[in-house]
Amino acid sequence: MVKQNSEPGQKFKRYTVTSALPYANGPIHIGHLAGVYIPSDIYTRYLRLKGKDVISICGSDEHGVPITIKARKEGVTPQEIVDKYHNMIKKSFQDFGLTFDIYSRTSIELHHQTASGIFRKLYDDGKLIESENEQYYDEENDQFLADRYIIGACPVCSYEKAYGDQCESCGSSLSPEELKNPQSMLSGKKPVMKKTRHWYLPLDKYEPMLTQWILEENKGKWKSNVYGQCKSWIESGLKPRAVTRDLNWGVKVPIENTDGKVLYVWFDAPIGYISATRQWAEINNSDWKPYWQDKDTKLVHFIGKDNIVFHCIIFPVILHAYGNYILPDNVPANEFLNLEGNKISTSRNWAVWLHEYLKDFPGKQDVLRYVLCAAAPETKDNDFTWKDFQARNNNELLAIFGNFVNRTLVLTHKYYNGEVPEISNPDKEEYKIKKEAATFSERIGNSIENYRFREALNEMMNLARLGNKYLTDSEPWKIYNTNPKKVKDILNCSLQICGKLSILCEPFLPFTAEKLKNMLNITNLNWDSAEKEIILPEGHKINKPQLLFEKIEDHQVEAQVKKLHDAWQASLENQNSDLKPAKQNISFDDFAKLDLRTATILEAEKVSKTKKLLKLRVNTGIDKRTIVAGIAEFFDPKDIIGKKVVVLVNLEQKNIRGIPSEGMLLMAEDSKGKLSFITLDDNCEDGSAIS
Ligand code: 2FM
Ligand code: ZN
Repeated sequence: MVKQNSEPGQKFKRYTVTSALPYANGPIHIGHLAGVYIPSDIYTRYLRLKGKDVISICGSDEHGVPITIKARKEGVTPQEIVDKYHNMIKKSFQDFGLTFDIYSRTSIELHHQTASGIFRKLYDDGKLIESENEQYYDEENDQFLADRYIIGACPVCSYEKAYGDQCESCGSSLSPEELKNPQSMLSGKKPVMKKTRHWYLPLDKYEPMLTQWILEENKGKWKSNVYGQCKSWIESGLKPRAVTRDLNWGVKVPIENTDGKVLYVWFDAPIGYISATRQWAEINNSDWKPYWQDKDTKLVHFIGKDNIVFHCIIFPVILHAYGNYILPDNVPANEFLNLEGNKISTSRNWAVWLHEYLKDFPGKQDVLRYVLCAAAPETKDNDFTWKDFQARNNNELLAIFGNFVNRTLVLTHKYYNGEVPEISNPDKEEYKIKKEAATFSERIGNSIENYRFREALNEMMNLARLGNKYLTDSEPWKIYNTNPKKVKDILNCSLQICGKLSILCEPFLPFTAEKLKNMLNITNLNWDSAEKEIILPEGHKINKPQLLFEKIEDHQVEAQVKKLHDAWQASLENQNSDLKPAKQNISFDDFAKLDLRTATILEAEKVSKTKKLLKLRVNTGIDKRTIVAGIAEFFDPKDIIGKKVVVLVNLEQKNIRGIPSEGMLLMAEDSKGKLSFITLDDNCEDGSAIS
C-alpha cells in the first residue's frame, strides 16, 4: 500500500472518484441513482467547478452468474445480454447528465488484461492459496454449479426456492451445502459433490492491516454505517475467500490447465475501475498511474450498502497485496431507497426505471435529480413517493427557485431592457443580503466535501429562499415610480443572487444551471466566483427568461402510482402462470353444503403397490375414520402422525384400492404440483367446523 497522509484538511493533488459498476443485466432505476450516481455526480461536478484534477470512473459490470442465467433464460449469449444493457445504461446515464469521464465495460480486452495481470502477480508472489474441495456438480450438463445455479429449501425459513448463496425470502446468507433438497437450475436434477481446485485470497492474513487502516485510522472519518459493517466483518474473523469460479463467462484464470475457470466477478469488477482509468488515459493521451498510485491522490468509492465489504475489505486487500496502489480515502456508501413504502424489486417491477421516467416526464431530469438527492438514503433507508416528488417540484423548485429567477429576470427586462442596473444607493438590507449570499458557496462546498449532499442541497435552496423572500419583501413593483433608485439596487442584488444560483445549483441541477447561465448570458464561472458579491457587472445584458420548472399535476403522479401497482400485478400474473386459473363462481348454498372439520392424523401407512397413496386414520372430533390420500410422494408416514389437518367429512364414501375412504384430506397444491398441509394451530380442537 502506498501510505497516504490522511490528516484532516490535507490537500490532495488529484481525485479518483469511482461509482459502482452496475450489472449489465437490467436497466437502471431510481434506487441506483439516489444511492450511488447522483451523489458521485454532485461530488465530481463540484470538484471540477473548484478547478480540481478529478476523474470520474464508471462502466458496466458484465460478468457474474446472473448474466449467464438471464442469457440462458432468453436463449441468447451472455455477450448479447451485456451489449443490450450496457448501451441502455450508458444512455440513461447520459440522459440524466451524469458526467463520467469514462463509461467503460468489463468485457473489453483491456479489462481482461488488467484483471488477469493483477491476479497473475498475486499468484506469482505466492499471495493466493490453492485448495481443492468438493462442490456441487451437474452431471447431466457436465458442469460445476455456481451458488446461484443451485436452489433448494432454506435451512432457516424453509422457503423452497432459496439460492445457494442467499435466501431471498428471509435474507439469510447461505452456502450451497446448507440447502435442503438441492436442485440444479440447469437440469432440475439433484447435483452431486465433486472435487475442484480454486484459488483463495487469505483475508485473514490482512486482519492487522485492516484493523489499523479502517478501525483506527478511519474511525470517525468514514460514515458510521460503513465503519460499522467493516468492524463487524473484521471482528467476526475474516476467512480466505475464493477468487475463482468454475464458469465459462468472465476473465479466464491466467494459470495453466484451468479451462472452464474464471475470476470471481467480485475479484474482477473493482479492477474494472483501474481498467477504465487506463482506457480513459489511452483516449486522452494521459497517464493513468498517478490516479491509482500516487499518495497525493484521493480515491473515493461511491457505492450502495450491499457493496461495502467488497470495496472496504476485499478490493483494498487485493490492492495492498499487489503493492504500489493507494487505498480509498473514503467509501461514502448509502443505504437503500424504498418506493411508495415497499422495497424496490426488479423482479416484481416495483421500480421507477429511468428510461420510462423520461418518457413520462421529458426534460424533467433535474426534478428527479433534486427529489432523489433531497430524499437520499444517506444515513438510513428512505422512501420515494410520487406525492413527495410532486410537492418538492411544485412547492420548492417552482415556487421558490423558479419563481425568484423568473420575477427577477422579467422585471429586469421590463424596467431596464435586460441590462443589469447600476447600484446607486444600497442600504443596510442590501449589504446584509449580499454579504450573506456570498457565504453560501463555502458552506455548500463544505457539506459536499463531507458527503452530506442533502444538507448541501438544502443550503443551495436556502440561497433561493433568501432571494425569493428578499424580492417579495422589498416589492420593487410597488416603488418603481416613487423610488426608482431603490428598485435598481433591489434588482441588481437579486440578479447577483441569480448568478450565484447558476453556479451553486450546477452539481445538483445541471440542466437548470445551463439554462440559467444562458438566460443570464454568463459562461465559465467557477465555484469560487460565487463568493464574489458582484457576478454580473452593471450594464451586462441578459437574455430573455424562460420558465425553469413547470407545475406537476395530481393526475400525473396518480398515473405513476397506478402504473406501479399495475406492473406489480402483471408481474404476479407472469410469475404464477403455471397456477390453475380460478374456477367458476358458486353460490353460497353450494359452499355451505361442504362440511369441513379440523382433525388429527392418528395413524398413517403406505398403501402397498402404490406410489402416491397413504392410508390415514384420523380423529375428526365427531368420529374416527379412514381416509386414503394421494400424498405419499411428499410425506413420510411417520412424520405426519399427530398433524392437525382439514377434512371434508361429508364426501360420499369411495373405495380406493379396496380401502373405503370416508372423506377427503384438504391440501394446498402449488403451481409445480407440490403439496403442503393447511396450517392449523396445534391447540385447535378436533371437529371444529370451518366456514
Ligand atoms: O452491485 C452491483 O451492482 C455490482 N455490479 C457493483 C460492482 S462495483 C465494482 F466493484 F465494480
Ligand atoms: Zn430463508
